[in-house]
Amino acid sequence: MQLDDLYRRVIMDHYKNPRNRGKFEEGALTIDLNNPTCGDRISLQLIVEGDVVKDARFTGEGCSISMSSASMMTEAVKGRTFDEAMDLAGRFSRLMMGESVDFDDYEDLEALSGVNKFPARIKCATLAWNALKKGIQADI
Ligand code: FES
Repeated sequence: MQLDDLYRRVIMDHYKNPRNRGKFEEGALTIDLNNPTCGDRISLQLIVEGDVVKDARFTGEGCSISMSSASMMTEAVKGRTFDEAMDLAGRFSRLMMGESVDFDDYEDLEALSGVNKFPARIKCATLAWNALKKGIQADI
C-alpha cells in the first residue's frame, strides 16, 4: 500500500469513527471556534486538573480534514501537561509548514502531513489545535 493511501485511510477512519466526539455533562472548559474561511465550527471541551489535560471531547461540523484532526488531537492530548500539549501543538504547526516532524507518541497525526500542500486546508487541520491552544492559554 502506498503511504498516501495509508494516510487517507487513517484520516477517513477518524472522520467516520471520531474518537472523543461528544460533550461532558459538567466541569469542562469549553472553547468554541470558527474557521473563518468556511464558517465551520468546533466546540472543544477539556477536563483540566492542575496543569494536566485529563480528558477532551469535541462537537462541531466540518470537512473530513478538520474533524479527523479534532479526533486525533483529542486522542493525542489526553493525559498531557499543558507544556506537553503546547509542544504537541507546536510540532503539529511545524508539520503544517511542511517540516518533517516525529509523532512517535501519536503516529496517526503524520497522516495529515500532506495537508501542507493545500494552503486552504491548513485552516481546517489547525482548527481544533487553535481551540486547544486558546483553552490552555485561558486556563494558565
Ligand atoms: Fe470548513 Fe474544512 S472546509 S473546516
